[in-house]
Amino acid sequence: MHLNSLPIGVFDSGVGGLTVLKQLKKILPNESFIYVGDLARLPYGKKSNEAILEYTKNACNFLISEGVKCIVIACNTAASISLHFFESQKLDIPIIGVVKPGAETAAVSTVNKNVTVLATEATIRSGIYVEQILKIDPLINIQSISCPLLVSLAEEGWANDYITQETIKRYLEPVLSSKINSKTPDCILLGCTHFPILLEDFHTILPSSMKIVCSAESTAQSVKSILKKMNLQSSETKNVPSNRFIVTDNEIRFSKIAKIFINKTIKSHDIKRIKLGT
Ligand code: DGL
Repeated sequence: MHLNSLPIGVFDSGVGGLTVLKQLKKILPNESFIYVGDLARLPYGKKSNEAILEYTKNACNFLISEGVKCIVIACNTAASISLHFFESQKLDIPIIGVVKPGAETAAVSTVNKNVTVLATEATIRSGIYVEQILKIDPLINIQSISCPLLVSLAEEGWANDYITQETIKRYLEPVLSSKINSKTPDCILLGCTHFPILLEDFHTILPSSMKIVCSAESTAQSVKSILKKMNLQSSETKNVPSNRFIVTDNEIRFSKIAKIFINKTIKSHDIKRIKLGT
């Protein structure tokens, strides 16, 4: 089989990575995807670095054994903790995480050189977004805020909701009230798979001049250009590309939340359950 016709693997701790899959499918309509959601072991955002790295390796090894041509680590937490590990490996296929594309877009989007990163506890603890943004522009001030409640609110489907907006306000209070170098940030980076679901709520709370960068969108663009550069794009135009969904637990919950996240029904019998890392 020709490499180009192989599927792209997408990995997330659970359902949130569907926001990345949605962007990928929009930009790469001829590609097939295998999505793996590790629902048995989520949330990654509250786990130790050792556990997150081990789970991420398990998922990538599984996707490689399924014969994917590249892997997208859609989970910001997994991508944050595993970035240096995968960079140090000699890999046969590209592994693309959401961190670098998100950091690059934020770094070029800020005009007053003040960026706020919102993510899970583990992503913030890793300091990886700060590291990657400063690599591009060392003069940028970065504030990092972990917002674990927003993950739960997104999964509840509480978008466009007063409680979500109050929660965002509470998390962003220190940034919006204190002026850093006499400037408030003009760019907010949504460094978690779940936060694009709450985009309208962010727009309601934040001044309209503030840019909101979603790592999901930047990653999809980056995957497209890497596939093009490596000549790995699918040339399929006749057959409808296929999507497979694989979870490690609770396909019923996956199916229910998928409806909230991508507004599409993935029937639970179309979702396969596997064990990872045993
Ligand atoms: N997918 C995770 C992320 O983007 C959020 C959910 C979790 O903590 O597992 O960081």
